[in-house]
Amino acid sequence: MKAVVFSEFGGPEVLRVADVPTPEPGPGEVRVKVHAASLNHLDLWVRRGLPIEITMPHIGGSDVAGVVDAVGAGVEGVVPGTRVVVDPSLDYDWYEGEPRGPGIDDPPLRLIGEHTQGGFAEYCVVPARNVVQLPDHVSYETAAAAGLVFVTAWHALIGRAGLKAGDCVLITGASGGVSTAAIQIARHAGAYVYAVTSGPDNVRRVRELGADLVYDRLEVDDWSTAVWNDTERRGVDIALDSVGGPVFASCLRALGVGGRLVTYGGTAGPRIEADVRLLFWKQLSIMGSTMGSPAEFRRVMRLVFEGAFAPVIHEVIPLEDLRRGHEMLEGGEVFGKLVVRP
Ligand SMILES: NC(=O)c1ccc[n+]([C@@H]2O[C@H](COP(=O)([O-])OP(=O)(O)OC[C@H]3O[C@@H](n4cnc5c(N)ncnc54)[C@H](OP(=O)(O)O)[C@@H]3O)[C@@H](O)[C@H]2O)c1
Repeated sequence: MKAVVFSEFGGPEVLRVADVPTPEPGPGEVRVKVHAASLNHLDLWVRRGLPIEITMPHIGGSDVAGVVDAVGAGVEGVVPGTRVVVDPSLDYDWYEGEPRGPGIDDPPLRLIGEHTQGGFAEYCVVPARNVVQLPDHVSYETAAAAGLVFVTAWHALIGRAGLKAGDCVLITGASGGVSTAAIQIARHAGAYVYAVTSGPDNVRRVRELGADLVYDRLEVDDWSTAVWNDTERRGVDIALDSVGGPVFASCLRALGVGGRLVTYGGTAGPRIEADVRLLFWKQLSIMGSTMGSPAEFRRVMRLVFEGAFAPVIHEVIPLEDLRRGHEMLEGGEVFGKLVVRP
């Protein structure tokens, strides 16, 4: 089958189109004929060489939608010909059940396309329990663009931060895949949304998505003070951040008394600085969030199927152009999601 692979870590130039053996589903697995896959920032980290062990050549791509084409031994309830979207999280029960990660510093869950071969290929093998049937009216592109980002945003805002109607929420990196999902979820929940993005085009598009007040970080250096003043010096209830680096401290400043900062990434760098006085004076909470449970995936995807949420698709590109897709995402040229079609 055709796939985009890399055999060494590095820049986008390590990606190449290759002919690789078509994978066979093992016990409990199904093979999906991929109709659409989508690119996430995670694919950039994996290509650059996260400190994880992966099999080379590696096929990235955590978000997959397509048609089940073969089933392995013991698979019940999933038949060939079924249109599906794939939940990218493996082992999420490690989170919710007994702690049994392999080592104290090892991440407690694995992801399709990160720890296993992913969907930037004509076929992809995944556990049967990870597939969710796709209604006929939902396109493969919509499903593939929605999965990872909506479950991440849902778990962070609803599961972790306990977002409720009337809350004021700050969302940084607002043009990003997860953030464009988070803005929709926050609006749907009845929250008031403050968002930080870059450049006038992004400001306009973030507003159109439903954010109430949008700050251009290229224009307003001290946007945390602007948020503070715009909330009549009360601050926001929740800050959702994946930029990290210096943005983390700005989020702490923008939070009001009892506020919660939910972090799910460190795009601008893994090291953060925090003024500890802000934490105790304002009685803040900092919480981490990663992906979402199988139940959350099904719940948020049902809302996508019902049309409550729609992933923002920047462009659909052919699989052969995946290297260009990596360059675009790395260069900050993508608003929302890039979808890849084999
Ligand atoms: N823990 C989890 O389960 C999980 C799940 C998904 C993603 N993540 C992580 O979360 C992050 C976002 O993921 P994504 O796929 O949504 O990424 P993305 O689509 O590439 O979006 C990232 C956004 O961050 C902003 N940004 C990037 N560099 C910045 C900088 N130096 N300073 C300020 N803002 C910057 C940009 O938004 P603006 O230009 O609009 O400011 C950019 O669009 C990544 O680090 C990813 O690995 C974690």
